[in-house]
Formats: sequence, C-alpha cells, structure tokens
Amino acid sequence: MSIKAQEVQTKQPVNSNQTLNDKSRPIFDVQDLNLWYGHDQALKNITFQIPEHGVTAIIGPSGCGKSTFLKSLNRMVELVPTVKTTGKVMYHNTDIFSHEMNLVELRSAVGMVFQKPNPFPKSIFDNVAFGARMHGIKNKKKLRELVEKSLREAALWDEVKERLHESALGLSGGQQQRLCIARCLAVEPEVILMDEPTSALDPSSTLKLENLIHDLKKQYSLIIVTHNMQQAHRISDKTAFFLNGEVIEFDLTTQMFTRPADHRTDDYINGRFG
Ligand SMILES: Nc1ncnc2c1ncn2[C@@H]1O[C@H](COP(=O)(O)OP(=O)(O)OP(=O)(O)O)[C@@H](O)[C@H]1O
Ligand SMILES: [Mg+2]
Repeated sequence: MSIKAQEVQTKQPVNSNQTLNDKSRPIFDVQDLNLWYGHDQALKNITFQIPEHGVTAIIGPSGCGKSTFLKSLNRMVELVPTVKTTGKVMYHNTDIFSHEMNLVELRSAVGMVFQKPNPFPKSIFDNVAFGARMHGIKNKKKLRELVEKSLREAALWDEVKERLHESALGLSGGQQQRLCIARCLAVEPEVILMDEPTSALDPSSTLKLENLIHDLKKQYSLIIVTHNMQQAHRISDKTAFFLNGEVIEFDLTTQMFTRPADHRTDDYINGRFG
C-alpha cells in the first residue's frame, strides 16, 4: 500500500506548548531526532509534531540546523556521507528511517523547493514533466494534462502557456521559482519542503509566492524555512524556533509572535540577535 494512503495514528501532542484546541493530526511526528555531520552534532533531541495541511515555519539564526532538519524529513541529508542520525521521524505510521520505508516513494511524497530557483536547462514543459516521466508516465495526453494542472496550481500557467517549449532559463527568477514548485507538484507530493523560497526574489515575486503558498496549504502540508519574521508571521499556522540544533519553542504562530514562552524566542523574533 502507498505510504500516502496509510492511516495516521493520532497521538497526543508530545510538546507541552501545543494548545488544546489544535486538533490537526500530525503529518510528521518527530521523536528525539539527533543528527551529526562527522563528530559535529547539528540536531539535538528534536521532538515535535508537524500538523497535516497548513504551513509550518522554521525560524532561527544562521547555522542552527534549519536546512539540516528540513532535509532530514525526506532523508536528502543522507547524501552527505558523514551524516549519522538517531531517533524517529514517523510519517503517517512508518518511521522514515525503518527498513520498510521506500526512499523513492518518500522523496516523491515529500518534495523540496530550494532557496535558489534551479530549473533544468530544458523547456518549461520538460521541466514539469521530468519527475512524472521518471515515474514512468509516457502517455503524451496524460503528460500534457499533468503539466497544465501543475502549472495552474503553481499560478504560472497563464504566463507560460504560449511558450511551453521555450527554455525555462528564459523565465524571471520569480517565474523560475514557481516553475520549480510546478515541477514538484507534478510528482503529486503530499508534503512540500521549502528552504527560504523567497530569499532570491524581489518584493512583487515574493508576494506572488506567498499568495501561492496560501492556496497550496489547503491541499498540501508545507514546511518553510524563512529568515523573514514578517513572512513567518504572515504565512504560517505554526512556527518552530530553532537555536543551536534544538527546538526552543513550537507553537501556533499567533501565540509565538505575541506571547513567546521563552525569552530567547522573544529576543530572536524581535531582532535582538541572529
Ligand atoms: N554538508 C555538511 N557537512 C558538515 N557540516 C554541515 C553540512 N551542512 C551543514 N553543516 C553544519 O550543520 C550546522 C547546521 O547547518 P544548517 O545548514 O542546517 O543551518 P541553517 O539553520 O540552515 O543555516 P542558514 O540559515 O545559514 O541556512 C552548521 O554548523 C553547519 O556548519
Ligand atoms: Mg539553511
């Protein structure tokens, strides 16, 4: 059975900061996750539950482990040969580190969009069709439908429908980032990880992407690293504050930004360090 289709075991929140009226079930239940690059520990006893649907923001100063954590969720971090992890990350009811987990399936269910738009030097159409072709879809009509659906979902269709067979490298930075999102959506993921997705974009492209994130969260679970506190506040439902590889606080965004429980969170979100 596909991991996407498996039932979720609803558990009690493990983090005391979670409010009682939060009934969303977790898409990831992270339990005591530790990660080392060689001898250097980058993640320490990470334990919190990421709700299904909606946007979870990951904030914290440079080098605190945000990207490492994000890349742990689809095990991309293991492309670094010195990486060692302990603990569990339950995705639905399977630990992503267990032998039962099919890595190809995990990485298609948990897609990723990076800080710098990274389209392939191919046509717009072929960029979006790439993942679907890798998954064995050859039927031309089906591919065309999937490409159009993904581009529409990524709010890019109207801008590119007349130039699908032109190079993706001719698009603006903001369009390229939405193309990368369309490429990710074409694989039909359930979770989308975004690592500072707007940091290379101008204010108007940033706004477009934030609106897109708002639309996508109805259907997907989004986990977004951002250095922009206003952005975290605007787009996320929950926020995790990382510091030196630990989660200091995890709560509803409105709660964290108005009444943070920890003075270090308060100092960070109010720009007193980082
Ligand atoms: N490939 C790697 N090999 C060794 N150490 C690494 C590697 N990638 C990251 N690290 C270390 O792990 C720690 C966390 O890095 P990470 O990139 O996760 O931080 P970050 O919070 O995403 O920072 P930034 O905000 O600057 O992107 C840092 O000390 C970093 O030097
Ligand atoms: Mg990073």
